[in-house]
Amino acid sequence: MDAGDSQSAHRAFLNRYYRTVRHVYDPTRRYFLFGRDRVLAELLLESWDTLIEIGPGTGRNLRVLHRTRPNARYGGVEASDEMLQHARARCPWASLAHGFAESADLGAVLGVRPQRILFSYCLSMVADPAAALLNARRALAPGGEVALVDFGDLRSTWSPARALRAFLGAFHVGSIDRALAATGASKLRWGPGRYYVTARLPAIAG
Ligand SMILES: C[S@@+](CC[C@H](N)C(=O)[O-])C[C@H]1O[C@@H](n2cnc3c(N)ncnc32)[C@H](O)[C@@H]1O
Repeated sequence: MDAGDSQSAHRAFLNRYYRTVRHVYDPTRRYFLFGRDRVLAELLLESWDTLIEIGPGTGRNLRVLHRTRPNARYGGVEASDEMLQHARARCPWASLAHGFAESADLGAVLGVRPQRILFSYCLSMVADPAAALLNARRALAPGGEVALVDFGDLRSTWSPARALRAFLGAFHVGSIDRALAATGASKLRWGPGRYYVTARLPAIAG
């Protein structure tokens, strides 16, 4: 399968999956997408006024940020047409485009290089997480940062963690360990039981 075919297949999977799930997404995901509010709270302590989220889903994170910092400019790149439609309705103040994390022109979303790019439980669904991180870091404004939160390595011996890892595989959720290791990121932090990981990655010259 070439890159175009595999992106089409991924888009079709996401649309099938989120067609119904998007309606119950926010109330259910609060019980297992941990660490998101911590990353958002940290972002809100920093100075920036342009931010793009990759895979914003329902737009839940963008709404949290917008509530506290309404004058910033927000954008997003989303591979699922179903989620994109949902987020556009809920975040009319954001510039939201269809695209794939690995290849989207992120500088075009707001018409300027963003100061922050957020990946919240998106990178683990992306087919090529290393390419997605590279694409984001190259698109950042000088001095900008990628902020990331996602499933950790679940290396815990706690059996529900191992079961969760197996379960997630069925939903195209893979490991981001190798992609993160390849960045040489030093600012990795783990949640309890290594359930989630947060990271900050600096801009690199495009
Ligand atoms: C688990 S949801 C997380 C949504 C939101 N970021 C949150 O924290 O609630 C992952 C999102 O990433 C999107 N996604 C998956 N693969 C993608 C890709 N290659 N490029 C852009 N978005 C993608 C999915 O359609 C979905 O909206």
